[in-house]
Amino acid sequence: MKSLMIQGAKILATGSAIPSSSFSNHQMSEIVQTSDEWIFTRTGIKERRLLKGVDQSIIDLAVLASKKALNKISMDPSQIDLIILATSSPHDLFGSASKVQSEIGAINAVAFDLTAACSGFVLSLVTASQFLQTGAYKNILVVGADVLSKWVDWSDRSTCILFGDAAGAAILQSCSSNDNSILSFQLNTNGNYSKHLSIAYEQNIAPHPQLDLYQGSFKYISMNGKEVYKFAVFQVPLSILKCLNSLNMSVEEVDWLVLHQANDRILTAIAEKLSINRNKVISNLGKYGNTSAASIPLALDEAIQDKKISHNDIVVIAGFGAGLTWGTIIVRW
Ligand code: COA
Repeated sequence: MKSLMIQGAKILATGSAIPSSSFSNHQMSEIVQTSDEWIFTRTGIKERRLLKGVDQSIIDLAVLASKKALNKISMDPSQIDLIILATSSPHDLFGSASKVQSEIGAINAVAFDLTAACSGFVLSLVTASQFLQTGAYKNILVVGADVLSKWVDWSDRSTCILFGDAAGAAILQSCSSNDNSILSFQLNTNGNYSKHLSIAYEQNIAPHPQLDLYQGSFKYISMNGKEVYKFAVFQVPLSILKCLNSLNMSVEEVDWLVLHQANDRILTAIAEKLSINRNKVISNLGKYGNTSAASIPLALDEAIQDKKISHNDIVVIAGFGAGLTWGTIIVRW
């Protein structure tokens, strides 16, 4: 994908936040008919974090992850020009980014939500890089945060075992085009498959008596696991290859593959299709499950803390999920 690049963009720092309460597969087997063995062999998940407590919301996690990223580079929040909050579980349907803006004290930032489920962080990174590379803004905070535990049907064993809550943040800054590190991206959507993964809005059966107007509410997550699995394993490697090709880069040049953490079998299948060694695939879903828009920045942040990803590494980041939407972004770290 070609973009009008006047200057470069780079990622300065990352941060992440997880709820303190963990919920193991064993605990899961006490509320639905399942087992640690079934969940682990099908998904690679051992436990997940759940945001408990009546006062806690996605905003708390997003703020904590953002503050950690800011602290790493001692950046004053007033230097942030734009905040993009990737989430599908906001605390307010009008958006939660403005609450994050006020709570971290980013008084000069414009803030908006971006809804693209598990692809939200990739789409937000691309959006941020466009604002930076065209010279519109200097510093951008991108946050991926989701609390899908609030939208899961806790009696549906085919979905409730998968998801966990978390937030991850990245601070991007404009730089000279020679130092540009957001090298390329490739994005896709196929709305014909949206039915396979959704939190649908359901209208009441009876309309308002005078207005002929239906109101309703959102349902729980519904998913066709097999279709989503097939889609991810088929489409994500194609997107990655297209993105690498646009840079005349080979698979051998990839140092790290940071995929949306949906299922360990999906990660392995994608790596196999690309002939990328499994050791190059960052995986932390055993501890957190699928944290939707948070999964990629959480995995990135941990990989940096663990000193896996280092300066100049080629990092291929790919997200996929509801929409169905999927895409790749290639970063020279
Ligand atoms: N524990 C035990 N048994 C379960 C279960 C659970 N948690 N969930 C489903 N089962 C049962 C089913 O009822 C079915 O039983 P049956 O054969 O008697 O009908 C059997 O296990 C197989 O179910 P199936 O749905 O075919 O399993 P699967 O091998 O496709 O695995 C997923 C299910 C969800 C793990 C898998 O499809 C998957 O990971 N898909 C991708 C989902 C995803 O990543 N979504 C997010 C993308 S962003």
